[in-house]
Amino acid sequence: HSKQRPMDASRLTVEKTKTPKPLSKPEDLVFGKQFTDHMLAIEWTKEDGWLEPRITPYQNLSLDPATCVFHYAFECFEGMKAYRDKNGDIRLFRPDKNMARLNKSAARIALPTFEPTALIELIAKLTKLDARFIPAHRGYSLYLRPTLIGTQSTLGVGAPGSALLFVIASPVGPYYPTGFKAVSLEATNYAVRAWPGGVGDKKLGANYAPCIVPQQEAASRGFQQNLWLFGEEEYVTEVGTMNMFAVLKDKATGQKELVTAPLDGTILEGVTRDSVLQLARERLAPEGWKISERKFTMRELAEASKEGRLLEAFGAGTAAIVSPIRKISWKGELVDCGLKETEESGEIAAKVKEWMEAIQYGDVEHEWSVKV
Ligand code: COI
Repeated sequence: HSKQRPMDASRLTVEKTKTPKPLSKPEDLVFGKQFTDHMLAIEWTKEDGWLEPRITPYQNLSLDPATCVFHYAFECFEGMKAYRDKNGDIRLFRPDKNMARLNKSAARIALPTFEPTALIELIAKLTKLDARFIPAHRGYSLYLRPTLIGTQSTLGVGAPGSALLFVIASPVGPYYPTGFKAVSLEATNYAVRAWPGGVGDKKLGANYAPCIVPQQEAASRGFQQNLWLFGEEEYVTEVGTMNMFAVLKDKATGQKELVTAPLDGTILEGVTRDSVLQLARERLAPEGWKISERKFTMRELAEASKEGRLLEAFGAGTAAIVSPIRKISWKGELVDCGLKETEESGEIAAKVKEWMEAIQYGDVEHEWSVKV
């Protein structure tokens, strides 16, 4: 399709709201419940490509009930954050990674791809327009939710001939209602989140709805989230809202190891995951640490815990930031993840969180933090 136009930020039109919303106090923020004044929307058609980007007041969408997103889940999304630094400037964290992942997700479900730099520029415009919603406090930020849906209205199953990419923005603090406290997990072995050759490594809405029932069951037994295992070996994969890290001490050598599951197609390729690994390779490896992306099992964690060699566990994600894990329920056993009763974080989780936040909030200059 040579007539298809690329996404073009210079064609943006802006319609400002006439009814600005009151700001919530940081302590009143509930993750993903409050939204800013405006949204960004860009339509795409097979004939014309990407149409004019529009920033408008935050508003409902109007869609035909036959729209393919409702029937066949043509939907993918991203989670990214804008931070306010000490000078009041606004920063995005590795937005290129989110753009690349959204394009990979889109391509997998026959939705159109786009020019990453154009969407970053448009997101920057939305973020600046709604900058008053970005909380200044550490741990708080503006969560941005780029979303791409198929909008063709047909019950025929096929590649959508039209699509809508929109971005909404929500001021947020901690993801878990318990605040910035250690969470407890229940290992799930009666259902699987993802499988080899599947789409568990893509950020599709369809990956999330099936996670709720196991999570509710975990919650009914007092655990905030469930931990997804895979296969008869019961490999530890991820939590569904965050990637999972463990800190182990080697039985023979005493060497410390930071371990997370490898990107084998069943793990969401977290931007926070990647950042934690890179920082650990730069800063922990020189101190003699082993930094591993490898398969590890729930049994390995349980054994290490019994022997006092599971020093810490934590989750990492854009929404969850760095969330220390206190214990994991597995086959009627409570696997202790090394925290003292009075502690809400282990040393490494705290260190990694501090490193990440220093970059995200622009305390230190780093190429990952992009001023808009
Ligand atoms: C994120 O960390 O941004 C996520 O997408 C996880 C969840 C809120 C869906």
